[in-house]
Parts: sequence; C-alpha cells; structure tokens
Amino acid sequence: VGLSAPQQGDNIAAIRDWIRRETGIVLGPGAEIFGRRLSRIQERYGCSGLDDLRAALDGAEPASLREEVIDAATTQETSWFRDGATFDALRALVLSRGRPLSIWSAGCAYGQEIYSVAMLLAEANAFDQARLLATDISPHSLRRAREGRYLSWEMARGLSANRRERYFHREGSHWVLKPELREAVEFRSHDLRKGLSESFDLILCRHVLLYFDAATQRSALAKLARSLRPDGYLALGNVESLRRLEAPLRKVSMGGAAFYAPLPSM
Ligand SMILES: C[S@@+](CC[C@H](N)C(=O)[O-])C[C@H]1O[C@@H](n2cnc3c(N)ncnc32)[C@H](O)[C@@H]1O
Repeated sequence: VGLSAPQQGDNIAAIRDWIRRETGIVLGPGAEIFGRRLSRIQERYGCSGLDDLRAALDGAEPASLREEVIDAATTQETSWFRDGATFDALRALVLSRGRPLSIWSAGCAYGQEIYSVAMLLAEANAFDQARLLATDISPHSLRRAREGRYLSWEMARGLSANRRERYFHREGSHWVLKPELREAVEFRSHDLRKGLSESFDLILCRHVLLYFDAATQRSALAKLARSLRPDGYLALGNVESLRRLEAPLRKVSMGGAAFYAPLPSM
C-alpha cells in the first residue's frame, strides 16, 4: 500500500531535518535535485519507500547510506581560479609575505580551489614549505579531490590551456593533476560547524556558509575567525557578506576583492 501525499511530505521533512542536523544545510521545500537523488538512493538500497529510507537513516545503518544522503544534499558547484579578483589579490599577498604560508580551503568540493592556490604558489615561487589543508563534509567530494582527476568540461571552467599543459597529463577522457601538487595538499573530513584548533594565514571559505541558517553561519564564522593568525585573512564567496552576522572580523579590500581580518582585540 503506497503512502499518502501527507505521509510522503512528513518523510521528506524528516529527512530534511536529518540533513540539517548532520550538515547544517537548510534545504528548501523545492529542493528537487535532492528529491531525485534520494529516489535513486532509495532504489539502490532496496528501501521500499521514503519511510523505509528515513528509518534506515535514523538507525544509522549502513554507514554508506548516511554518506550518500549527505552527498546528495551538498552542492559541488566550483571552478578553477573562481572569482579572479580574489586570486589576483592572493598573488599580491603571497608575494608580499615572503615566508611559507598556511592555507585552508574549507568546503573544498572537488579540489579546484585548493589546487588553484597550489598553482598560484608554484608560480610565485612560494610552493615549497607551504601548508595546504582542504576539508569537506562530503565523502564523495573528498575522494574526488584527492584523486585530482577531471573531465574536459571541468577543466574548461577557469583553467588556461597553459596551466592545463603544465600541471596535468591526459588519461583517456580525464586530466590528472601532477602528484607534486596533489601530494602537497592534506585532505580531511571536517564539519565547518566545528572549529579547528590550528591557525592559518589564509582561510578560503567560499560558497559554503550560504547553505546554512543565520545562527549556524554566525557560529561557524566565529570559529573560522579563531583559526586565523592575527595577521591572517579570510575569503568568503563574492556573493557572501558579513552583514548582520556580528562576526569578530573587519573587511579589508584588496584590489577588486574583499577579505576579512581578525579584529585587533582578538
Ligand atoms: C558550492 S561548494 C564550494 C566549493 C569552493 N569552496 C568554491 O567556492 O568553489 C560547497 C561545498 O561545501 C561543502 N559543505 C557543505 N556543508 C558543509 C559543512 N557543514 N562542513 C564542511 N563542508 C560543507 C559541500 O560538501 C561542498 O563541497
């Protein structure tokens, strides 16, 4: 016997609540892509319906189901050297510091962001000894980022032919990043709602906070601020701003890009 529409609605709402608890991501009622992905997961795991899937999630069994539902709720939209002005400013910053930098890409998706930073460092002769950390909550993202293998359409998003030839080799339909760059990055599973007890010269947390509600954004930002060195900078996505978030940070404009620095009292 199939479930009535209100029962289906209850199950979807319960799964959205589960996602919010597990990741902080707020999915709107119209999250159709998520709905389609859930149906595929439901089939793969032999769940008879959303009620069955919901019960399996509540029972946290099997662990791979949990991971797949988290993957289904996340968005990996990204590109190479995304928001060019940010990378122009970064280049100037790297050159002006003149010492090895520690850089964290928080919410790294498939790795294009941290690998763009690695290329920038290599080109500024600042690659050796730099500390590069990239984290994400999505297991699938981390697997792909570690592999450093991209399809032609992914390569075409922001990467020049010059850099493609310099840093990649071709394997069938994929482009594979050189081991020197891949191995220079530590990839780690991490939920942005938890702090990291390390400090960085630069944190890139772009296009991640926008999926959270305001209270979660505020507390994640405060934690990011605590992971900045006193002279460090945080980059957010260019559509994101600190308005109303009361973060212990001040805006610093560099060229056409905005960064956030810890308040002097911190
Ligand atoms: C749209 S991508 C942004 C990628 C890259 N930072 C950029 O700007 O191009 C958002 C990423 O944030 C990750 N994410 C979502 N919620 C997270 C959380 N609570 N903790 C860590 N990462 C999270 C997603 O898995 C996804 O890979």
